[in-house]
Amino acid sequence: MDKSFSGVFSAMTRRLGEETAPVWAVHDEALKRAANGEDIYLLSVGDPDLATLPSTIGATIDSLQKGRTHYAPGRGELRLRQTIADVELRASGRPCDPDEIVIFPGATNAIYSVLACLLDPGDDIIVLDPMYVGYEGIFRALDLNKVGVALDVENNFAFDIDAIKNAVTATTKLVFVNTPGNPAGNIISGPDLEALAHYCRERNIWLVCDEVYSMLTFEEKHVSLRKAASELDNVIIIDGLSKSHAMSGWRLGWVVASRSVTDHLLDFTSSVIFGCCQFVQDAAAFALTNDEEYINGVREEYCQRRNYVCERVANISGISCGVPKAGMFVMINVAALDIDGLQFAQQLLDEQGVSVLPGVGFGECTAGYVRVSLAQPINILRPAFDRIELFLAQGIKPTNPR
Ligand SMILES: Cc1ncc(COP(=O)(O)O)c(C=O)c1O
Repeated sequence: MDKSFSGVFSAMTRRLGEETAPVWAVHDEALKRAANGEDIYLLSVGDPDLATLPSTIGATIDSLQKGRTHYAPGRGELRLRQTIADVELRASGRPCDPDEIVIFPGATNAIYSVLACLLDPGDDIIVLDPMYVGYEGIFRALDLNKVGVALDVENNFAFDIDAIKNAVTATTKLVFVNTPGNPAGNIISGPDLEALAHYCRERNIWLVCDEVYSMLTFEEKHVSLRKAASELDNVIIIDGLSKSHAMSGWRLGWVVASRSVTDHLLDFTSSVIFGCCQFVQDAAAFALTNDEEYINGVREEYCQRRNYVCERVANISGISCGVPKAGMFVMINVAALDIDGLQFAQQLLDEQGVSVLPGVGFGECTAGYVRVSLAQPINILRPAFDRIELFLAQGIKPTNPR
């Protein structure tokens, strides 16, 4: 038997294996160097450094000791869905039925499932540019045609409804937005969301909104799509605990949508997920009912970090940034240095051991930016920015012509 096996992979597998923008290359290199003992500052990760609320861990241990280790209902545990329905009622002032909620192992999975239920391969998906880099893999897996609509970069990444309207065609089935936004920390205002929801419903278009940073806002509050939309049958919200509750590893997210959507999502989850961990759902229900003080503290911490980073950037010549309204990131504009974000990130890592993400991974309009994560305490941000300052003081090296 010397003939080697030459099995053919699916088209989806091949699409997922295609080259992407080298957004993670700098980060991966930084991890490698850190593992080799080099002194590296990682400002490229979006995983909260904060601890999960300790009493949530206690509640989880109780749940495990009670034997909550079996299959759970496909829609999710009723107690958690009721808790989320209460959160939704408080956020929107609109009653929410637990059957309008489906639990997923993380928002990523929720987004994948929603898009798989609503779109077919080859369909357009209208999405904001810049966008969270993780959407890219979902769109590829489902073979969706990404139609990026630029935020107003000159105006601190403000939302532009006319740009969305210009991108909609007779075949558009779905518009996907993210507010508060990753990477830009922008917030879509209540009136803009209302107008967008109305516009989409008039044209029979689904409107899906990723709200995973809804609790991490600073001066301006998040407006939920459920609050803004006058009709709820075409709108779908995705949220989760990874960011707000520093529970990224617990894998817990959810969808809020009309019954017609959640019934189909149930068919989908029953086929491909078959229920989320009972004890994680118990933990999530506990976290969402005992979190007021914790969330205030988390918000305050990120706000201080944001202020610190923005102040440092303002004092370094050659780079600039707008002040993000929410979330865990600051986008730094490096275009005045006459290099792009990728070149900046590569040189910064090479020369000073600081890892930031090149903006090109998030969209075309942020190629001249790098993203700095606030998932590091100020005692790490401080020396990291000292190095960034030194890097710029020493002068950017000429690069290959772009
Ligand atoms: C906008 C956005 N949506 C979704 C996710 C993924 O969330 P989860 O950990 O719940 O899958 C992230 C993670 O960075 C994100 O930034």
